[in-house]
Amino acid sequence: MIDGHGGCRALVMNEIVNTQTMAVPQRKVFIKTYGCQMNVYDSQRMGDALAGEGYGATDHIENADLIVLNTCHIREKAVEKVYSALGRLRKLKDGRANKGLETLVAVTGCVAQAEGAEILTRVDLVDVVAGPQSYHRLGDLLARAQAGERVVATSFEIEDKFTKLPPATAAQTMARGVAAFLTVQEGCDKFCSFCVVPYTRGAEVSRSVGQILDEAARLAAAGVREITLLGQNVNAWHGVDGAGASVRLGELLGQLSQINGIERLRYTTSHPIDMDAGLIEAHKQLPKLMPYLHLPVQSGSNAILKAMNRRHDRQYYLDIVARVRQAQPDIALSGDFIVGFPGETDADFAETLDLVESVGYAQSYSFKYSERPGTPGAELDGKIDEAKKNRRLEILQALLGRQHAAFNQSLIGREMAILLEKPGRFGAQLIGRSPWLQSVIVDASAGKIGDIVSVRITESGPLSLKAVLA
Ligand code: 5AD
Ligand code: SF4
Repeated sequence: MIDGHGGCRALVMNEIVNTQTMAVPQRKVFIKTYGCQMNVYDSQRMGDALAGEGYGATDHIENADLIVLNTCHIREKAVEKVYSALGRLRKLKDGRANKGLETLVAVTGCVAQAEGAEILTRVDLVDVVAGPQSYHRLGDLLARAQAGERVVATSFEIEDKFTKLPPATAAQTMARGVAAFLTVQEGCDKFCSFCVVPYTRGAEVSRSVGQILDEAARLAAAGVREITLLGQNVNAWHGVDGAGASVRLGELLGQLSQINGIERLRYTTSHPIDMDAGLIEAHKQLPKLMPYLHLPVQSGSNAILKAMNRRHDRQYYLDIVARVRQAQPDIALSGDFIVGFPGETDADFAETLDLVESVGYAQSYSFKYSERPGTPGAELDGKIDEAKKNRRLEILQALLGRQHAAFNQSLIGREMAILLEKPGRFGAQLIGRSPWLQSVIVDASAGKIGDIVSVRITESGPLSLKAVLA
């Protein structure tokens, strides 16, 4: 997917549907998720916690006693979008009130963190504003809201929310399918000059090895076959082993590989400067680690990389790519790109195109620079006008699009193992996932959901591949 319109990569606006753990849920919750995979994971964890508070999930917003908007602040008009979504709830809340039904509204996620009490001031129908580090307190915050208080929780808590949030039940996990997310690291200390994440998610925090292995084992026991480790800076993850020695992501992946039932591992999103030798080696040593790496570079120009405070230059990135390819020749690369960062000249942009040409991307996400209030980038001179940003984005996306298509085409005729994930659009088909993250459509007779089957690719379309059993 190439996204130039301010949407975030992957799974935009999922409505999370949880299974109900209560025999007869008294209340219903509707959770709307914007943004990245970490928000998807957070919404699941909030849903699990709310099930324990007596809320069953609904995907009909008009039936919801509690509406949660889990928001994203990464780019473009994020705040305005949240305010207009809240505005649209007015009629719904009033309509339910006329029937004597109460509706609580909570705003969570990165806009909640950034805006805080301002949301309560601007929108009187909001009851709770809770930032990403306060989700374990949601039950308590809602109880206070129900008692008539309007609550804001945006402090960066010292206690670890993950130790307080209830784990998903097997039923909740199973309802979400055979591929799961697992947050191992949150927050960021890198302070790229364009990015709000260090301000909305807070400082870099790693979950403990024990917590991660426990959660992975529970996922495996519930039938999960593939785990994607999540972190804003996932490869900055670090922990300590039983003997007190420091452990990094490559080793954690090795330990996760040993869990029976887990057949596939992925991780995202990585920063080039944290691609250490152990992680690169893991791509060589661990058959369960999928040959796919999302490694944002943002720009191919040294001047712009410096202005972005990316802490590495173009050659450093190219060297990492070369080393990863040496370790795992089959690896597919994916990247994030920003065009129109302040001061970006035609020559800087040409350097980005040149880097793309020399790396060759199987997948990518590219964006126009979007000024984020409060970030150092917003203070820079040399702003690029929208027309120029649009032109550059178009040129970059045309090049990347050709690379993606060429990669997909190159798989035609190839045999590969796919994980069958869900039914296809027609009952007669199943949709699986290739090692390189593409959706692969096969005949339903290929197996059952959760099976990993060997197929041969027969066709490549813009959104998916088609295959027959090998
Ligand atoms: N403007 C445009 N793109 C941005 N990203 C992050 N912040 C901004 C911004 N202010 C992009 C980067 C990052 C991805 C998650 O979103 O490419 O890697
Ligand atoms: Fe943002 Fe940079 Fe941190 Fe990624 S590494 S979350 S782009 S500040």
